[in-house]
Amino acid sequence: MPIFENDVLERRRQRAADAFGDDPPIVLFGAGKPVQIPGGQDQTYPFIPYPEYYWLTGSRRWGGVLAYDPGDSWRHFVRPVSQNERLWEGGGEDVEGEDVAGLKCWLDQRPGRPVAVIGGAVENVKNDPQRAAALQISIDGVRRRKDAAEVALIERAAAATAAGHARARETIRPGVSERRIRIELEAEMFRQGADGAAFDTIVGAGTHAAVLHFEPGDRIVEPDDLVLIDAGASIAGYAADVTRTYPAADRFTPRQQAIYDLVLAAQLEAISTCRKDVEWHEVHRAAAAVIALGLCDLGILRGEPDVLLDSGAISLFLPHGVGHMVGLGVRDVGGLAAGREVSVHCGIRMRVDLPLEEDFLMTVEPGVYFVPALLDDPERRERFANMVNWDALASWRPVGGVRIEDNVLITAGDPRILTAEIPK
Ligand code: GLY
Ligand code: MN
Ligand code: MN
Repeated sequence: MPIFENDVLERRRQRAADAFGDDPPIVLFGAGKPVQIPGGQDQTYPFIPYPEYYWLTGSRRWGGVLAYDPGDSWRHFVRPVSQNERLWEGGGEDVEGEDVAGLKCWLDQRPGRPVAVIGGAVENVKNDPQRAAALQISIDGVRRRKDAAEVALIERAAAATAAGHARARETIRPGVSERRIRIELEAEMFRQGADGAAFDTIVGAGTHAAVLHFEPGDRIVEPDDLVLIDAGASIAGYAADVTRTYPAADRFTPRQQAIYDLVLAAQLEAISTCRKDVEWHEVHRAAAAVIALGLCDLGILRGEPDVLLDSGAISLFLPHGVGHMVGLGVRDVGGLAAGREVSVHCGIRMRVDLPLEEDFLMTVEPGVYFVPALLDDPERRERFANMVNWDALASWRPVGGVRIEDNVLITAGDPRILTAEIPK
């Protein structure tokens, strides 16, 4: 069964063609090719097609090229199935498209026309990099809005992720290792239809929760630890990305609970601001403002919330952006609105900086962390000398960190949380 129906692909191609404007060049979307594992001889890393190619063809096969001639039509060239492939990998019966060897002839019939290549390189083609860069911006703008077929796949990934988190929650108790939790979580995601993890699963117990992308290891969960889990299933390249922070035993310690409540309040506030036309950096600021006030109440920060945000002091405890675009892969399109440079908000260089539109899918994932590398940095200690109660920090450091992350679809009305099934 194809991943996407033909009418879905046709609508996407029409949206892309509309975005390319009146006088586009010939456009070639390359699938890319596998990367060899160093020293691996015939071994390659798992192949992931370039997203534009996959989105427009529904094919995850390497070596293909989708060609668009604005005066003519779309043509899909594919790598034919070889005998060797049938021997080692099987399948291949359902590969639809023309032999990629015919691409040269197709291009020769269009002499002197500029060509822009998007995605994987296409051999023996003279790419026009300036036109390609302009078209990349156009196709990014189109792809940011998720269509119903994409949302359906992400909902399946979210359901498998929910099952994985539920299994992890059952597994967590004093005495189990981070690694064991990961194994149980991923196994359950696979059982529920995942074809992979969308990214390396993060399980951090105690102070390991303060490492943003921690790789689970042999550490044994202690009774007073919290456990931060950031995991997501992948189905046909579509991802969910969900963080929950759980107590090791029945309940959090009072300090863990205080930080948890604060992060949850920040996340709910940020989600409530996820509406059409709102600037993403305002969503970040909404979360940061709740955290700044809360950390003042807890005696960790001092000063006016606006000053704590504008000076960047808040980034000692919230050292990452509030989220990113998710969907086709764990980091989908994202980026900056046309004409913008990367700017700093609340002490963070925002890699996503654009106004929200209907059908954008964003992660909303504020956190509060006690990161030794930040809190012990002499330059930061001097810069924020008067804004932090440095003496109070020792008693908070064992908390490690708390992050809560959901996947939020922007609609014409209230935001829709695709991962709401996972308790928090
Ligand atoms: N799952 C990794 C992240 O949220 O950045
Ligand atoms: Mn995550
Ligand atoms: Mn994320």
